[in-house]
Amino acid sequence: MEIQIGLSDQSRSRIAEGLQTLLADTYATYLKTQNFHWNVMGPEFFSLHLLFEKQYEELAENIDELAERIRALGLYVEASFSVFKEKTAVKEESKVLSGREMVQELVKAHEIVIRSARNLAQIVESENDAATQDFLGKTMNMHEKQSWMLRSQV
Ligand SMILES: [Fe+2]
Repeated sequence: MEIQIGLSDQSRSRIAEGLQTLLADTYATYLKTQNFHWNVMGPEFFSLHLLFEKQYEELAENIDELAERIRALGLYVEASFSVFKEKTAVKEESKVLSGREMVQELVKAHEIVIRSARNLAQIVESENDAATQDFLGKTMNMHEKQSWMLRSQV
């Protein structure tokens, strides 16, 4: 069935493209957080191990909502590691870092996602897509809260 929700095909594609980049950034941050949950060592082991777990669980929920928002706009979700790697500005982590370095790397990743969401929010506002706008507000709130909790550790 054709989509008649008051957004043009061009608007829906433009917004979905931005959401796709946000999905790649969020997925990269999710993997990084889970990587650190597994590999963290040191005197802060237990608190960081648990904090990272709580955070990647929240990120996983957000990822699902993000992808489903793309589908609600009528577009397909590109979900492969090669597409995510091409689209995200979040760098992969292959070394084992100290707990402090892990926290700093995660703050940087969240800040990338927040900036990406904020840029998209401007586009979405001009396209009059209130549902995506609302989602982006909640998304930025979650990332800003996670960044605050991480920043408070160092
Ligand atoms: Fe675990």
